[in-house]
Amino acid sequence: MSNKKATLTLDGKTYEFDILDGSVGPSVIDIRSLYAKTGMFTYDPGFTSTAACDSTITYIDGDAGELLYRGYPIDQLAEDSHYLEVCYLLLYGELPSAKVLKDFELRVTNHTMIHEQMHNLYSGFRRDAHPMAIVCGVVGAMAAFYHDSTDVNDPIQREIASIRMIAKLPTIVSTAYKYSIGQPFVFPRNDLDYASNFLHMCFSVPTEDYKVDPVIARAMDKIFTLHADHEQNASTSTVRLSGSSDANPFACIAAGVACLWGPAHGGANEAALNMLKEIGTVDRIPEYVARAKDKSDPFRLMGFGHRVYKSYDPRAKVMQQSAKEVLELMGVENNPTLQVAKELEKIALEDPYFVERRLYPNVDFYSGIILEAIGFPTSMFTAIFALSRTVGWIAQWKEMIGDPQKKIGRPRQLYAGAVARDYIDIKNR
Ligand code: SDX
Repeated sequence: MSNKKATLTLDGKTYEFDILDGSVGPSVIDIRSLYAKTGMFTYDPGFTSTAACDSTITYIDGDAGELLYRGYPIDQLAEDSHYLEVCYLLLYGELPSAKVLKDFELRVTNHTMIHEQMHNLYSGFRRDAHPMAIVCGVVGAMAAFYHDSTDVNDPIQREIASIRMIAKLPTIVSTAYKYSIGQPFVFPRNDLDYASNFLHMCFSVPTEDYKVDPVIARAMDKIFTLHADHEQNASTSTVRLSGSSDANPFACIAAGVACLWGPAHGGANEAALNMLKEIGTVDRIPEYVARAKDKSDPFRLMGFGHRVYKSYDPRAKVMQQSAKEVLELMGVENNPTLQVAKELEKIALEDPYFVERRLYPNVDFYSGIILEAIGFPTSMFTAIFALSRTVGWIAQWKEMIGDPQKKIGRPRQLYAGAVARDYIDIKNR
């Protein structure tokens, strides 16, 4: 806590509130006693000026375009680390030694299969169900299979549930993909790394050997790392709020999957690629840019803008380089979708409307291009985002559950409805 105070004067009375400093970034005014002292609430729909918790996991500086996982810059982690090491870092706070990392990777590897009866869940869905509908349902259903890791007050059960979800999400997501294309489900393999295993479960078929291309596997692993966590975004806040009621971990992560699905959030990668395809050719970009500026038109440039980043999303920079590598490998660097993406980005970075509002390409702008080049349908993009973000949701959930000051989240409101009035019998209405 700093020794600085904030004072508020209301109806001639002055109230003092502590100012709390973090290790870096904005300080906060501790208003927990505000209602008791003043009988008033703060008002902040969308939480644009509200810190809902304190955390030691991820730090974002939106003006500087900085993103740190436990203090390590995202571009260094994307370049020098790999996803399971980043998972360990997010969960436990420090980079592991080689031995500790190997043990962690083995624990994850030994949990990648899903309960055999979980395969039956998939046949209950239509083949053309959106993969996110399936993933949301199957993740929630994990509580019906793994009863020995649902007690949130038991740290050992919390740990097992965490490992299970990190290990099984690639299997759950790839199985949803196989189900949607009518191909047989593929079991995970213990001899493959995390990203290669996911690609293998998505793209291998029983009729021939499948060799994972290391460049594609590396790009996939980078996508996982870049999406792993992002401070108190909408889906993470959903997980925290769900967890504050002591709901079981699988239910909390399923709630995060549901929130991420929205096109304003994780659904933007699917929406961005669909938008680029709808634009189709470079000469049609001005028409769409005009629509994005038109207040009477609900159309927005998907993959642009961010609540926090008011400069370039550092993840988009890494993703742009990765997109170039993958498209060159796939021999589609002249991909029309990428041409439209590059021209759209150029225009948006020069157009006063976007410059004044500091609307830059975000993580979703390029991830969709890579995923399409790898061979995923757009409907799979957000499910892959959910797979990547599971570790971030779990790390934040564990931090919240382990907080001795934990309270159930219960926001209040500014009530603008009818004041008390008596019931009117229907014959008098
Ligand atoms: C993610 O929070 C996170 O960390 C999320 C995420 C994560 O890792 O968890 O980073 C992942 O969700 C990235 C964002 C993906 N969403 C999109 O790409 C969808 C398109 N973007 C917008 O919907 C929007 O930019 C948001 C939702 C991302 C942010 O919206 P804000 O901060 O609430 O901003 P706003 O809606 O108040 O807009 C400010 C102005 C408005 O214009 P004015 O009223 O000031 O004239 O900018 C305009 C908006 O109309 N604007 C856009 C725009 N985004 C904002 N105009 C055109 N196209 C856009 N994309």
